[in-house]
Amino acid sequence: MVPLKRRRSSVAVETGSDRTPSRFPQVLFLLERKMGASRRTFLSQLGRKKGFQVEEEFSDRVTHLISENNSADEVRSWLEAQVRGRGSAEVQLLDVGWYTESMRAGRPVEIQDAHKLQEETNEDEVVLFSVPSYACQRRTTLENHNTSLTDPLSLLAENAELTEEEGRAVAFRRAVAVLKVLPVAVTDVSQLRGLPCLGEHMLRVIRDVLENGASREAQSTEGSQRFKALKTLTGIFGVGAKTADRWIREGIYDLDQLRASGQTLNRAQQAGLEHYDHLNEPVTRADADAIAEIVEAAVTSELPGAHITLTGGFRRGKQSGHDVDFLITHPEEGREVGLMEKIVSWLESKGLLLYQKTTRNSYLESKDGPGRPASNMDRFERCLSIFKLEERGGGGTEEEEEEKKKEDRRWRAVRVDLVVSPISQFAFALLGWTGSKLFERELRRWAGHEKLMSLSSHALYDNSKSKYLRASSEEEIFALLGLDYIPPSERNA
Ligand code: UTP
Ligand code: MN
Repeated sequence: MVPLKRRRSSVAVETGSDRTPSRFPQVLFLLERKMGASRRTFLSQLGRKKGFQVEEEFSDRVTHLISENNSADEVRSWLEAQVRGRGSAEVQLLDVGWYTESMRAGRPVEIQDAHKLQEETNEDEVVLFSVPSYACQRRTTLENHNTSLTDPLSLLAENAELTEEEGRAVAFRRAVAVLKVLPVAVTDVSQLRGLPCLGEHMLRVIRDVLENGASREAQSTEGSQRFKALKTLTGIFGVGAKTADRWIREGIYDLDQLRASGQTLNRAQQAGLEHYDHLNEPVTRADADAIAEIVEAAVTSELPGAHITLTGGFRRGKQSGHDVDFLITHPEEGREVGLMEKIVSWLESKGLLLYQKTTRNSYLESKDGPGRPASNMDRFERCLSIFKLEERGGGGTEEEEEEKKKEDRRWRAVRVDLVVSPISQFAFALLGWTGSKLFERELRRWAGHEKLMSLSSHALYDNSKSKYLRASSEEEIFALLGLDYIPPSERNA
């Protein structure tokens, strides 16, 4: 057999003076196979800068062997050829995802199942569905064949959000998104073999539904006094999980108790409480179109030539939603400055706003860009509002129309978000505001982990080239990210 291949002199690397002293005991080695030499060099250097021990050559010191797009079998045969009987049982075989997450965390992160290399399946363990692991690599329409599974898991996700367990919430949301893309209804857990994002906890819930017709965990959560109170209280516009939790600890569980408590409410919360029923009724597509006409009229009257685009769930083809989202821009950079104030005055003068709060654009590329952690908070000029929408007859079913007449209801309150973007950031704003929330989160995770880029609703920054990547359409952004283009109707993850 040929001796161990020596690609480069290891001397310079081992004693190189640019090397930060190692801060962690793990000895890492990145496999060039399928990763490519330049990416391997780049990632290795990045690791060393962060104080990781990343070896240039494989040796028996290596504790963590990291590879990309390799199966466990492939790496094992490579390893056997290197060590030739010198025992390599101790080496962890990990996916590059573990490495990039560790870079991000600035320390070796805990090894999860998803970080370990996939075993190739035997013929009798057929994988039925092949689903890529990031939601932004998948086409998710509104069609869902597995609502009996996704409903309880979504409820558990919602509960985790309401109790501010972010990590758990995301795990549930990811599992839901995987089940949503399956082309048929799952009848047996064995069909789920090989699917990403379905850990122990998820499978327990799924098994429960398949075997017993319902998830006991979801049922007991739904029935719990705390969940009900959190849902009721956060149903008030302007009330988040933190405030709801504080009120519950003070013995406030419902709206009557809140009204009786004498709690001071801010302006948003007062409006939220006043219009509680309207705001908790789904907004229909017809409502959204009616609001669009009004916003169009306001924008045209204040700045002819400006464009408005319906974003959010309605752009993805949903027939109902909790609010209506609009993105406004002007084809000439700078003309959009000051527009929001004018739109709001126009709407107010016509008595169309029940509440509004406008925040100024605080984005400055030189300050905010790449250094900021990926987040879905953006800094556009934005108006959070409650519209007073005049009811037009004939919109609902006969019963609904009867009901409205009885209430003598001539209008309803609707939550509307207006966002103004400069044209140079428009494509990013459109992509960011179209959602779904999970789709956006997954896009940012893909950008960060797989491409070493930072994506926001303002810009895309390439960390390895230290520069901004410009784009004037969503298609271009997907291309820059190395992803197939997914149209809005297939972003319903
Ligand atoms: P929504 O919360 O309105 O969600 O945010 P939605 O998909 O339209 O759902 P419904 O039908 O109203 O319930 C729309 C998109 O805007 C982004 C979110 O990430 C989501 O993708 N968004 C929202 C922001 O980027 N920033 C915000 O402050 C709020
Ligand atoms: Mn929305």
